[in-house]
Amino acid sequence: MKFVIRFLLILIFIFTVQSEALLAQTGWAKSYENAVVVTAEKHASQVGKRILQQGGNAVDAAVAVQFALAVTEPRAGNIGGGGFMVLRMDDGTTNALDFRERAPEQATKDMFIKDGEYKPDLSRRSALASGVPGVVDGMIKALERYGNLPLETVIEPAIQLAREGYKLTWLQAQDLNDKAEEFKQYRSSRRYFTKRDKTPYQEGDLFVQKDLAKTLERISRMGRDGFYSGLTADRIVNTMEEFGGIISYSDLKNYESKWRDPVKTSFKDYDLYIMPPPSSGSIAIAQMLTSLENYDLKELGFNSAKYVHLVTEVMRRAFADRAHFLGDPDFVRIPQSGLLDSAYNHDRMQSFRWDTVTSSNSISHGDPLKYQESNETTQYSIVDKNGNAVAVTTTLNGSFGNKIAVDGAGFLLNNEMDDFTAQPGEPNMFGLIQGKANSVAPKKRMLSSMSPTIVTKNDSTRMVLGAAGGPRIITATFQSFLNRVVFGMDPQQANSAPRFHHQWMPDKLYYEEFGLSPDTREKLKEKGHKLNPYGNIGRTHNIYIDNNGLKYGSPDPRGDGAAEGY
Ligand code: DON
Repeated sequence: MKFVIRFLLILIFIFTVQSEALLAQTGWAKSYENAVVVTAEKHASQVGKRILQQGGNAVDAAVAVQFALAVTEPRAGNIGGGGFMVLRMDDGTTNALDFRERAPEQATKDMFIKDGEYKPDLSRRSALASGVPGVVDGMIKALERYGNLPLETVIEPAIQLAREGYKLTWLQAQDLNDKAEEFKQYRSSRRYFTKRDKTPYQEGDLFVQKDLAKTLERISRMGRDGFYSGLTADRIVNTMEEFGGIISYSDLKNYESKWRDPVKTSFKDYDLYIMPPPSSGSIAIAQMLTSLENYDLKELGFNSAKYVHLVTEVMRRAFADRAHFLGDPDFVRIPQSGLLDSAYNHDRMQSFRWDTVTSSNSISHGDPLKYQESNETTQYSIVDKNGNAVAVTTTLNGSFGNKIAVDGAGFLLNNEMDDFTAQPGEPNMFGLIQGKANSVAPKKRMLSSMSPTIVTKNDSTRMVLGAAGGPRIITATFQSFLNRVVFGMDPQQANSAPRFHHQWMPDKLYYEEFGLSPDTREKLKEKGHKLNPYGNIGRTHNIYIDNNGLKYGSPDPRGDGAAEGY
């Protein structure tokens, strides 16, 4: 008897320990009473939490997380790229910061065309692929306007992580190994991102970045000048000269991030504040929600053939508009109020038929699945104890950007120029066909799909949303919102539930392999959809706040993300 009781106690112990271990894993939604930080990487989430506990607000934590991700998620977290921040402070004010890269002053409309032909390698893998980085200017601007803590304090954890190193996860090691051949093409990248003894990285390896630590120290001491002039600028310009890029001292000196008004749209009892152009996400999500407002989506059923058909047709129309109308609002006139108008969107749905697809017209297009280039962006969401909320999406575009590290400065450069229309009719890295509104011009910002979003109900923040995944950012963010609001899913489900994606061109309905039943797939094919299984459709790192104010940090199980809070 004694033996049986002891055995049972051991079983209970193992079960408890295992459940705790499961809870500590990444990708699981957790709830907190005061504050929560969700990022794609656990050290960065811990840094955010620490800053909040030290008296920082959500903006202080966001800046600390951004610098930490530049160290712990070098494939997407960065100081050599750009991004967007949407915030809502406890007094209800909202704001949006555009720290997207800009085209260098010497950029030209046809810079990626040689002998009449578009050269994708130039816009993706060369030094010409880099836009002028915006992160450092953006972070300092956000901190100066909304933060409580000094720059040195919020940047310190990142410096430590770079100087002392951190242990790689399995995924981080694989990501670095996957790109080893490309890193080896550049002396600096080889030194920073491959092992000296030439063996592949293993889970648990200590990853130290001494030069990056020094660059971060310069930013900590000198602020903006620690990056856009002096030694760091010298090193960026030297790298450009060595590899045929065109970012100059003048580009760096003149870079400016910009405050913009978020796009506001409503759906049922919810108001959404989304990053405005040059993000296309706001306009597209607003158009899709407006187009759906008169349909009973719940009645159709989650991921039923009818639901997927209707929502796909809505996506198709929004992305067709994206291709034609959207670009940097400082350069092109976007008919924003028309695009957001209810009547316009309902009109666009006049051609919708329940029994058949509306085919995307047949201009030439590419297939993103053909491109082996993996891609990577990173979303983080933060709510502090006073209810200040911040959503940030930031990227180098492709995974590890153009793979060119700035020699002596320890960080990678973006390949964001590929987000411009290199040539009308030619697909970019994501298979997006884009228009003249998004053509290259000096100092212009390339159109983006990054869609950081804050959702309120009765004037209180209820969701902080956003995703990684190129154009799938838009449809993933949109679906995690619908999952919660229409289907009442809990925070874990809302992020985990299988997703689908259509971007007008190529005319394909991408779906996560096990997300649609065979029967649903058959019905969609009968209507004329061209189905295409796809790995992961976006990675969302969201926060959901319930009626009682409990904050759920909800990382996407599709990645390494983690929630931290208290
Ligand atoms: O701004 C954009 O839309 C792209 N540069 C985002 C790239 C991206 O999300 C890569 N994937 N995860």
